[in-house]
Amino acid sequence: MKFFVDTADIDAIAELNATGMVDGVTTNPSLIKKSGRDILEVTKEICDLVDGPVSAEVTATDADEMIAEGRKLVEIAENIAVKVPLTWAGLKACKTLTDEGHKVNVTLCFSANQALLAAKAGATFISPFIGRLDDINIDGMDLIADIRQIYDNYGFETEILAASIRTVNHATQCALVGADVMTAPPGVIKSMINHPLTDKGLDAFLADIKSAGIKIL
Ligand code: E4P
Repeated sequence: MKFFVDTADIDAIAELNATGMVDGVTTNPSLIKKSGRDILEVTKEICDLVDGPVSAEVTATDADEMIAEGRKLVEIAENIAVKVPLTWAGLKACKTLTDEGHKVNVTLCFSANQALLAAKAGATFISPFIGRLDDINIDGMDLIADIRQIYDNYGFETEILAASIRTVNHATQCALVGADVMTAPPGVIKSMINHPLTDKGLDAFLADIKSAGIKIL
């Protein structure tokens, strides 16, 4: 499973990138707002830092405007994936932009039917939002499993990009049900390493290293 980082925070991306954990980045208008930066400027910096796809979301709601914005966004760098909302206008923009050879991430997916439409429109990525479904007492992971089954039934190549990941358990479950990608905030990815037995074991080894005076260099 590929890991995308769900942030527009350059320092956080750089820190994780150094560990090999960054296969791509996703942003959205809320994350751009949080960064306090200009969308074109910060997106360019992210693209310079990361080799994989970097999703940048359109601001328009009309298909022609989304297409125009998408064409401007892809000029930033080769690895831009234009993010469009799951509306008919968004699907029309998806079809046009993917026909032109650009990567498109269809976002705000909350049902298997929406994911089916996005795949038929040629989406590179579909972004089902797990956490926001969990927030309204619907199991977001069931949606990932349903989309996996539907895409596999028909050989759709659209990648399932599990989004709105809030917990480390979401990450495990995404991998178990076969999401192609998960996009998670840096804090969630960093927490995946935590295990008390690792800490306890390392403390014991360090105590023995100290008392025995073990040295390598
Ligand atoms: C990523 O593409 C989504 O915009 C993001 O994961 C949404 O996460 P949230 O529901 O925590 O805002």
